[in-house]
Amino acid sequence: MSERSFQFFLQFHHGLPRQGPGSTESTAKAFRIIEPLLPPEPAILDVGCGGGAPTMALAGLTRGTILGVDRYPVFIDELRRKIAERGLGDRVTTLVADARALELSPESFDLIWSEGALGSIGFEQGLRTLRPLLRGPGVLAATEPAWLRPMDEVPDEVRQFWADNYPAIASVDEKFEQARQAGYTPLGHFTLPDEDWAAYVGPLERHMNEVLAEHPGDPNAEEAARAERREFEMFRNHLRDFGYVFFLMQRS
Ligand SMILES: C[S@@+](CC[C@H](N)C(=O)[O-])C[C@H]1O[C@@H](n2cnc3c(N)ncnc32)[C@H](O)[C@@H]1O
Repeated sequence: MSERSFQFFLQFHHGLPRQGPGSTESTAKAFRIIEPLLPPEPAILDVGCGGGAPTMALAGLTRGTILGVDRYPVFIDELRRKIAERGLGDRVTTLVADARALELSPESFDLIWSEGALGSIGFEQGLRTLRPLLRGPGVLAATEPAWLRPMDEVPDEVRQFWADNYPAIASVDEKFEQARQAGYTPLGHFTLPDEDWAAYVGPLERHMNEVLAEHPGDPNAEEAARAERREFEMFRNHLRDFGYVFFLMQRS
């Protein structure tokens, strides 16, 4: 995809309720599982927070502090507005930074959260990079695409889509093996329900069509839209083959 097309791709994602599959309910479900392992007011880092849908959900679940980090300033601006609207500035803060090179103090977080963002660093690499920021037996919760069926049952077109877009997709067992190699003990996992995809894809498709209507015939906008439509088709028709899985683990 050309740089201009990528700018359209980003524009499709501006101002959406969320930038990836998920929901307040799934964030809460994951948080409730690991909550007994946390101090009463945990220090939380939300990596690749986007416009802050998970960040704000976490703020409603805990009295702890949350630092939302994303490398894309437009998303951080969206989160800053939400923090101000809800008067949460004393315990929810933001940082524009690349998660691969965070200049944060070692062992300063009880919980690292990351919905849909570790893949861009590489799941195992991301886990390794973030591990020194956890203190004691700190917890890490992240969503990541995974195969939900044996590979020989997955249709060729679905395998091809992931080979083209995210060849690092693997089974839940393989992902947990990567987590062990990166220095974590698995705590549990669950697959995001179909509604969590609809909550992401519906608003994205509507906004994409609005942007396209503002740029009729623009080949770069069309190129970005073609990539999105291929994703929508996968998400609508093949969610039995793959899914986004919430992986919960503890620093070992
Ligand atoms: C699929 S979106 C998910 C956003 C948000 N967690 C949510 O669930 O709505 C992935 C986010 O990760 C961010 N991201 C990707 N690579 C990153 C990196 N290396 N450092 C910081 N943020 C990154 C992107 O800008 C994007 O906001």
